[in-house]
Amino acid sequence: MELFTDKTIDETRQGEAFSSKENQENTFSRKFFIESYGCAMNFSDSEIIASILNSNGYGSTKFEEDADLIFLNTCSIREKAELTIRKRLTEFRKLKKKRPGLLIGVLGCMAERIKGKLLEEEKLVDIVVGPDAYRTLPLLINEAESGTKAVNVLLSRDETYADISPIRLNSNGVSAFVSIMRGCNNMCSFCVVPFTRGRERSRDIESIINECKDLFSQGYKEVTLLGQNVDSYNWVDHVNGTVADFAILLEKVAQISPTLRIRFSTSHPKDITDNVLFTMRKYDNICKYIHLPVQSGSTRILQLMNRTYTREWYLGKVKRIKEIMPECAISADIIAGFCTEEEKDHQDTLGIMREAAYEFSYMFIYSERPGTLAAKRYYDDVDIDTKKRRLAEIIELQNKLSFESNTKDIGKHSEVLIEGDSKRSDAHWVGRNSQNKVVVFEKDPLKQFKKGDYAIVEITDYTQATLFGRIIR
Ligand code: SAH
Ligand code: SF4
Ligand code: F3S
Repeated sequence: MELFTDKTIDETRQGEAFSSKENQENTFSRKFFIESYGCAMNFSDSEIIASILNSNGYGSTKFEEDADLIFLNTCSIREKAELTIRKRLTEFRKLKKKRPGLLIGVLGCMAERIKGKLLEEEKLVDIVVGPDAYRTLPLLINEAESGTKAVNVLLSRDETYADISPIRLNSNGVSAFVSIMRGCNNMCSFCVVPFTRGRERSRDIESIINECKDLFSQGYKEVTLLGQNVDSYNWVDHVNGTVADFAILLEKVAQISPTLRIRFSTSHPKDITDNVLFTMRKYDNICKYIHLPVQSGSTRILQLMNRTYTREWYLGKVKRIKEIMPECAISADIIAGFCTEEEKDHQDTLGIMREAAYEFSYMFIYSERPGTLAAKRYYDDVDIDTKKRRLAEIIELQNKLSFESNTKDIGKHSEVLIEGDSKRSDAHWVGRNSQNKVVVFEKDPLKQFKKGDYAIVEITDYTQATLFGRIIR
């Protein structure tokens, strides 16, 4: 699920603002400020929340000092993610003293995990709302405005917010997230997500296609279809008696236009099918990149994690992907120091990384989460220094693998979707190729490229994180 390349997501934070016309006109008397943490699903949810608030007369502001309402859309995935939120909340104390009417809301996974207790633990919080209860936000705000603290953490079996048009926040106007399902039924033993986001449910296929078409007509060139486990997407249309799986959804989105790129995240190795792989191969505009979290390379640890595959089965899946699409990049999530992990299990993780030759990885130290199967059944018995050392070895190996993968790109011609000026210089463009690698190249004064255009770039240089090249056409 994690789509940002340079940080673990739960440390990512962004103040957000409307890019919509309504907001530019600034007609709202009451303003909210929203900050998102965690995975892409949370960032996408903030766009749904913005839409709900907007329809109820609240405009967004980029500045917390100007806000009547401050919302933190939170993450619980690791302890550190929650500590970051707690620290951030303390920063609002002064603001609240200065402006007694200011309301503070905690939304998202941490709200769902801790529930009403958050109000006792964090006295300055007025509103607590879980991921399935955002439609009730306007009511809860009214309640809080009249002086009663407000909580709604009910989980739902069918809420997908399918009918709500998200308001794109901090958008680059080129790529957008589209949520295709919510929740997770997998119960990996380390993971808090099934508790914070509830049962898995798929969103109406027509509403997904319409959202993607709408984005394309507004000039967007890339959509990322989001879910905790996209390969188990399953929409049953009871009226027509039809069923759509993820391969069908992918194909329908790919057919919107050959110039609309499609990405998706996350794939659970147990669920990605040959049908999905063949659909990816069939359409050039479906990016050749799969995020396929492995978590560990040791079959014993995978079993304790309840991942339902073995080391060999996972490697078989990687082989199949490469057979069908030799150019496909693969990335992983990896956890260091899960309960009972020994040195030989850790070596198995390093070994599977070499065999799969990941282009990137998102790597974490195991963090015990209250209420999970692992917290109930196993001891968190790997000491922190060992966890840190193993993580450092995993990161070092991944850096080497990324570097080796980039070495092989020299001389290749890559199609790059231009996302904007490079951070380092506005004489350079930055974008990504199909394999999700970041490519930086010099602007050519003779070729009138703009953000959202595709350029063919010859790769001439690289670091472990970035490819550099020159425009061919
Ligand atoms: N649904 C996605 C993952 C969502 S969470 C999937 O199944 O692939 C993103 C990543 O956070 C996980 O893949 C895992 O590597 C990591 N993670 C989840 N729980 C964790 C924990 N308790 N400690 C450390 N890392 C964790
Ligand atoms: Fe968590 Fe596993 Fe579900 Fe991913 S598939 S969200 S790791 S329980
Ligand atoms: Fe995402 Fe964090 Fe929740 S990773 S689903 S925001 S616990």
